[in-house]
Amino acid sequence: MSRFNQKVAVITGGASGIGLEIARRLVAEGGKVVLGDQNAEGLVVAVDELGGKSVAAGIATDVTSEADVEALVRGAIARFGAVNLAVNSAGVGTFAPIEDHPIEEWDRVVDVCLKGVFLAVKHESKAMKDAGHGGAIVNIASLNSFQAAEGMSAYCAAKAGVVMLTKVAAMELGRAGIRVTAVAPGFVETPLTAFATAELTDAYVHGTPVGRTGQPGDIAGAVCWLLSDEASWVSGDTLKVDGAAHTREYPRFFDMLGV
Ligand code: NAI
Repeated sequence: MSRFNQKVAVITGGASGIGLEIARRLVAEGGKVVLGDQNAEGLVVAVDELGGKSVAAGIATDVTSEADVEALVRGAIARFGAVNLAVNSAGVGTFAPIEDHPIEEWDRVVDVCLKGVFLAVKHESKAMKDAGHGGAIVNIASLNSFQAAEGMSAYCAAKAGVVMLTKVAAMELGRAGIRVTAVAPGFVETPLTAFATAELTDAYVHGTPVGRTGQPGDIAGAVCWLLSDEASWVSGDTLKVDGAAHTREYPRFFDMLGV
């Protein structure tokens, strides 16, 4: 398959986990990728693994900085000539009950997970519009966009915001031929979730009717479909990719952790 021949994709958070797996799929199907991540060393390793400079580039980016995000998009055009596709996957989490939540931690999570997606959509779509061609943007939301989690107020609020931001962006950008969608993953085994103990992982699996954790490939498959022309009439929606976990309840962190 080569659904992405001649297509150039910007991927924030592309040095690791879900973003990196999406990059692998896009390159395997003929695309070129420009990874924006604050992990500069991870970018070097990722570009090498993806096949080197002819198909991939890495640009050190803090998605909370508008100047950095602008430079990422400009860099993609300079390197490969266009931005046709984008995946906004950079994200961070934290755990703190509301009454003890440090405001700096709240700001950090909301800035990366929500403002970072806004800045990315802003500059990715501007580049697509200025070039006069359409495009497709996929934002990575979360099961926590829909399902509340104890101790995760900042993350849940930010990820719920991504769902609405995706709708507004789809509404505004449809006339420019730009589709904007989101994917909401359940628990996926990546460096972000490496903190999970066996007990916590079991609790997630217990709450997942399909009966297993997710792998980055589960998410990448859905994202690549949304990026492809096969999804050319899908926009504004958030696709849950979670083994039906949204139909059950989230692990009870306060009970498990004795909070
Ligand atoms: P990961 O930790 O493997 O990858 C996240 C990447 O984002 C890292 O490379 C990190 O350096 C980068 N990043 C963090 N802050 C950044 C910043 N300010 N600027 C630029 N890059 C930054 O995590 P994973 O699991 O691949 O997460 C990807 C997305 O999926 C995130 O938005 C996360 O919230 C979301 N997600 C993950 C789930 C999971 O269970 N792993 C579940 C639901 C959503």
